Amino acid sequence: MKNASTLIVGAQFGDEGKGKIVDSLVQDEKFDCVVRYNGGNNAGHTIVSDGNTYPLHLIPSGILHPRVSNVIGAGVVVDPHGLVAEMGTLATRGVSCSNLCISDRAHLVMPWHKVIDGHLGKAIGTTARGIGPCYEDRASRRGLRVGDLVNENQKVDRDHFSERFREVATQKNRILTRLYDLPPLKVEEELETVLGLAEQFREAVCDTAELLNRLKNQGKKILFEGAQGCLLDLDWGTYPYVTSSSATLAGCLSGSGSAHIPERRIGIVKAYSTRVGEGPYPGELGDYEAIRVPSMRGKGPVSADLTDEQKQAALAGDDQIMGNWIRRAGQEYSMTTGRPIRCGWLDLVAVKHAVEVSGLTEIALTKLDVLANIPKLKLLTAYQDKEKTLTTFPSRIAQLARCKPIYEEQEGFGEVRGAETFAQLPNPAKSYIKRIEEYLQTPVRIISVGPGRAEHIIKERSCDPG
Ligand code: GDP
Ligand code: IMO
Ligand code: MG
Repeated sequence: MKNASTLIVGAQFGDEGKGKIVDSLVQDEKFDCVVRYNGGNNAGHTIVSDGNTYPLHLIPSGILHPRVSNVIGAGVVVDPHGLVAEMGTLATRGVSCSNLCISDRAHLVMPWHKVIDGHLGKAIGTTARGIGPCYEDRASRRGLRVGDLVNENQKVDRDHFSERFREVATQKNRILTRLYDLPPLKVEEELETVLGLAEQFREAVCDTAELLNRLKNQGKKILFEGAQGCLLDLDWGTYPYVTSSSATLAGCLSGSGSAHIPERRIGIVKAYSTRVGEGPYPGELGDYEAIRVPSMRGKGPVSADLTDEQKQAALAGDDQIMGNWIRRAGQEYSMTTGRPIRCGWLDLVAVKHAVEVSGLTEIALTKLDVLANIPKLKLLTAYQDKEKTLTTFPSRIAQLARCKPIYEEQEGFGEVRGAETFAQLPNPAKSYIKRIEEYLQTPVRIISVGPGRAEHIIKERSCDPG
C-alpha cells in the first residue's frame, strides 16, 4: 500500500510557521489525521483562518477540521491544566475537540515539573512549562503517564492515580524544600485539581499507536506535526541550549508509535532566521542583551516602520537596526512567552544540517513577505572559525559561538503578498529561492507569503536532490 504519510519538521530554531503549513496542507491535500509526536505546550503553533487567529500549544493543528483525527502521541508531554485551558479556549470559539485522541502512554506534566523548570530553566531560557523536568522523570522511570490517570475504559482511575501522585509528590516536596529552598506543593489540593481536570479529557484517551496503524491500514492520509525545530533537538541541536525532546524524523517514529517512515518529509524554513531564548546563534543581527527586555505580551503589534535614517543605517551595516527591522516586519515576539525573538539572515549551513538529520525531501519556505522591501538581503552560506571555513554545523557550542558568518548578498524584492504562482513573484525573489534550493540540494515546494491559510504558492520541482 502506498505510504501516504507526510512529516512536517522545523528546520531551524522553532517558530518557522509549522502550524500554518499543517493547517493549509490538511485543507488542500485532505489529510485524515494530524499527529503531534514531541514536545508539549512549550510549542506555539499559529493558524490564521478567515481572519481569526488560533494559537495552539498542545492540540494538533488539524483541530479546525472536524473530519480530521487529531492525535497527541506518546512522545508528547501533557499538562492537564494547559490541555483543558486550550480545549476551553477553542470551545468558546466554536471549535470542538471531539476529534482529539490522547495517547495513554504520553507523560503528564505535573505541578512540580513547572516549579522546578521555573526555578532552574532560566539559564537555558526555557518556556518554564515543565517540559525538561517531565522528560527527565520519563527517562528515569519516575514519571506519571496519562494511562495512570485514565484507565482503559476511559474512566478516571482515582485510586491508582492518587497513590502514584502522593508517592511522587512527597519525594518532589522533599527536593523542592531541601534542595531548592522552595515552599512545598499542597499535595491533596493539587491532586484533586488534576483529578477534576482529567474528567474533561478522559474520553479522548486511547492507544493512539493502535489507532494510527489502523488508519494506515485503511489507506488514510496521516500528517505528522513536529514541534520545535532541528536546532532545538536534544541530540542534534545546540546542546545544552535545546529542548528536551526529539524534534526530528527520529522523534516522529518513537513519539507516534507508527513504524512507517513518512515518504514525504517537509522541512519548514523561515525566509530568515530567528531564535527564542539563550544559546549560540551565529549570524544574529545585533546584540541579544539589547533586546532581553520584559515580555511584550498584551502590548499589541509593534509598528514595522523604521525612519528613513534608520533604514539607511541598517543597509550601511548597523546590524542592531537590521535585526530590529526584520523583527518588526515579521512581528517576531514569542506567542508562548511574549519575549522579543532574536533575528538574523537565513543560515543555510544550519538548515542543511536539518535536511540531513531528517532526510528532508522538500522545503516549505515561510514568511517570504517579511523580507519584501528590504533592498539588500543576505544568505549565510558558511562559518569562519579562526582560519577554517566551515560548511557543516558544529556540535560543540564553544566552536559555534566562535563562528563568524560568511554571507552571500542577494538583491531585495518588492511585495510578494498576494502572489499565487511562482511566476508572479518578482525575479529577485525567484533568485533568492533558487539559491536556497541549489545550496540545500532540496526543492522548495511551498512558498508562504502571508499568515492566512490560502496565502501560499505551490511550486513545481526546480531542483532535484543529488
Ligand atoms: P510554528 O511554531 O512553527 O507553528 O510557528 P509560530 O506560529 O510560532 O510562528 C509563526 C508566525 O508567523 C505566526 O504568527 C504565523 O501566523 C505567522 N506566519 C506563518 N507563515 C507566515 C507567512 O508566510 N507570512 C507572514 N507574514 N506570517 C506568517
Ligand atoms: P514551536 O513548536 C521556539 C525553546 C525555548 C528555550 C528552549 C528550551 O512553537 O516551534 P523548553 O521550555 O522547551 O525546555 O525550552 O527551547 N523553545 C522554542 N522556541 N519555538 C518553540 O516551539 C519552542 N519550544 C521551546 O525558548 O530556548
Ligand atoms: Mg511557535
